[in-house]
Amino acid sequence: MYTETGTDIQRAATLLRQGALVAIPTETVYGLAGNGLNPAAVSEIFAVKERPFFNPLILHIPDWQSASLYAAAIPEAAHKLAAALCPGPLTFLLPKKEIVPDLVTAGSPLVALRVPAHPLTRSLLSLLDFPLAAPSANPFGYVSPTSAQHVIDNLGRKIPYILDGGPSSVGVESTIVGFEEPGKIQLYRLGGIAVETLSAISGAEVTDVRSHAVASGPQGPGMLKSHYATHAALYIGNVRELALQFPHQRIASIQFRDTYPGLPGVRQFVLSPSGSLNEAAAQLFAVMRAIDDAGFDVIVAEHFPETGLGPAINDRLNRAQAMHKPGTRLS
Ligand code: TXA
Ligand code: MG
Repeated sequence: MYTETGTDIQRAATLLRQGALVAIPTETVYGLAGNGLNPAAVSEIFAVKERPFFNPLILHIPDWQSASLYAAAIPEAAHKLAAALCPGPLTFLLPKKEIVPDLVTAGSPLVALRVPAHPLTRSLLSLLDFPLAAPSANPFGYVSPTSAQHVIDNLGRKIPYILDGGPSSVGVESTIVGFEEPGKIQLYRLGGIAVETLSAISGAEVTDVRSHAVASGPQGPGMLKSHYATHAALYIGNVRELALQFPHQRIASIQFRDTYPGLPGVRQFVLSPSGSLNEAAAQLFAVMRAIDDAGFDVIVAEHFPETGLGPAINDRLNRAQAMHKPGTRLS
């Protein structure tokens, strides 16, 4: 199949109405989108991504008002967060309505809904009378794409069209929250909205349920540990000390703001010389991919500050590291 790239939303809409898949830009990462109410299109997403069926998909909707088409009940806490943060990098887990295919939610009674902020994808959604099911447009287990070129590199010739919206501005996937306990917000995935922001807006306690999700196995909400892996083995810690442990390897390092003098043989990638965690998040996946493409053997990465988007960055680095630890590999 020949893969075309462009900004033609009419073309994208036509393909999606026919049941075909289209890669779409979002402010977090690029998505591999299909008609979320059409089980055949949803199956095709799992096939192209080589993703196991037990890992459910997010439904992308044009505006928060549309949430009630797919969610059976929406608690006040969700409305409150949505009023402040939609459109944006936040995904809501809510009780699903019958109309949502079980394939989308992997049999779960909850559906994940998100209103993406990218203008091209918002225009596309407004042309459609169905939501777009879309996981990140990478093969299962690899780093998510933050540009149309990343999608071509991974899925070229597997899908007919890539809507090119330029580089993703946030650069890490959406934060995922649930509302299963009254008065509290459950955090299922760290992402583009910082935990501090969730607490400040909601006034509610934010409970981290990520470790529980991992412990409960793959049936848990997709919090598989070994994700976001680079081909190069990745290690987190003191960059200088780690680099000494791999004397005969080609080493790249990932750092927040500083370049270190006296590190011969290490190619240093600094994510934000000005010290912005937002900029660092926006650069992270492109840098991980560039390091792989250049054929480095080892990545040594710093631990990022635990504020703002820092925890989301550390989470992605941790999962990439876990992929290379014996016993944590999935398949
Ligand atoms: O930023 C994002 O969220 C991007 C863009 C494309 O919107 N999408 C994305 O999708 O990251 P994906 O499929 O790569 O990750 C979605 C996560 C998965 O870990 C999945 O298990 C979880 O959301 N999820 C989806 N539906 C769920 C459900 N019903 N219950 C629990 N977890 C769910
Ligand atoms: Mg993904």
